[in-house]
Amino acid sequence: MKAAEAWNGPVGRHWADHPDRYDAMLAPFDAALFDAAAIGVDDRVLDIGCGSGGTSRAAARLARRGRVTGVDISEALVARARALTDPARDGDVTFELGDAQLHLFERGGYDVVISRGGVMFFADHVAAFTHIGGALRAGGRLAFVCPRPSPPDGEESRALTLLASMVGGDHAVDTSVARSMVSLSDPERTGSVLEAAGFEDVTALPVTAATRWGADAADAVDFFVSRTQGPPVTDGTHAAMADVFRPYETPEGVLLRAGVWVVSARRPC
Ligand SMILES: C[S@@+](CC[C@H](N)C(=O)[O-])C[C@H]1O[C@@H](n2cnc3c(N)ncnc32)[C@H](O)[C@@H]1O
Repeated sequence: MKAAEAWNGPVGRHWADHPDRYDAMLAPFDAALFDAAAIGVDDRVLDIGCGSGGTSRAAARLARRGRVTGVDISEALVARARALTDPARDGDVTFELGDAQLHLFERGGYDVVISRGGVMFFADHVAAFTHIGGALRAGGRLAFVCPRPSPPDGEESRALTLLASMVGGDHAVDTSVARSMVSLSDPERTGSVLEAAGFEDVTALPVTAATRWGADAADAVDFFVSRTQGPPVTDGTHAAMADVFRPYETPEGVLLRAGVWVVSARRPC
C-alpha cells in the first residue's frame, strides 16, 4: 500500500480518531522543534503533514500577528484539524488538503516551514524538499522532527518489537508507513538531500524524550492493538502484552523513551 493510500485509509483514520493520544505521544518533542523553528510573532508558518493540527495551533500561538497554514494529504486528518480549531481561540490557522510534494504553495509566501513527523513519506525527497523550499522566502527557515530509531536494545524498540511479535501476523502495522517512517533517520543522508534541494546551514540535533503510550499498561495495550488490523487479541495475549508495558508505568502514564532528530535548515538569502 502506498503511503498516500495508508494516510487516507486505516492509518490516517486511526490518527484522526485519536488526536489526544498522538499529541501526548509526540508533544515531548515540541519544545525542541519550536526552538529550532524560532517562530516570530509576525511569521507566516507552513506546517507540512500537519495531521490533526496540534503543531499548527501551537505555531499560531507564537505567530500571533502572522498566520499558519497546515497541509496534509489525509482527508480524515484535515477534517479533524478543522474541527479542533477555533479561530477565536487559536488565531489565523487554516488547513488545506494536499500532497506536499505537488501542492500549489504560495511561492516565497512563508517565513518558516515546520513539520512534526510529516516529511518522511515522499517518493523523491530531493524533489519534494525543492518544491517545499520554493514556498519559503529567501532566508526562510525549515525545522522538522523525524524518527531516530533507538538501537535494537533500546527501551522503545525492545518493547515495541516484542509487542508486535505478540499480536501476530494478522495485526501487522502497515509496512509502507513503517518503512517510510525511517526514511530520514540517517542525518548524513538528510543533510545531502536538503543541500541538493537548495537548503543551507543544515543541522540535525538528537533529542530523546518519554513518549506516553497510555494511562496504564492495560490502556497502552488497547491503544497498541487498536493501531493494528486484525481480530481482538485473546485475554491471555492482552495480559502478556500488559506485562511488557508494566515496567514503564509511572504516575504520568506508560512512558517509553524514544529518539528523534530535530532537523533545521535555511533557504539562502
Ligand atoms: C506521523 S503523522 C504526523 C502528524 C502530525 N504532524 C502530528 O504531529 O500529529 C504524518 C502525517 O503526514 C501526513 N502526510 C504523509 N504524506 C504526506 C504528503 N505527501 N503530503 C502531506 N501530508 C502528508 C499524513 O497524512 C500524516 O498526517
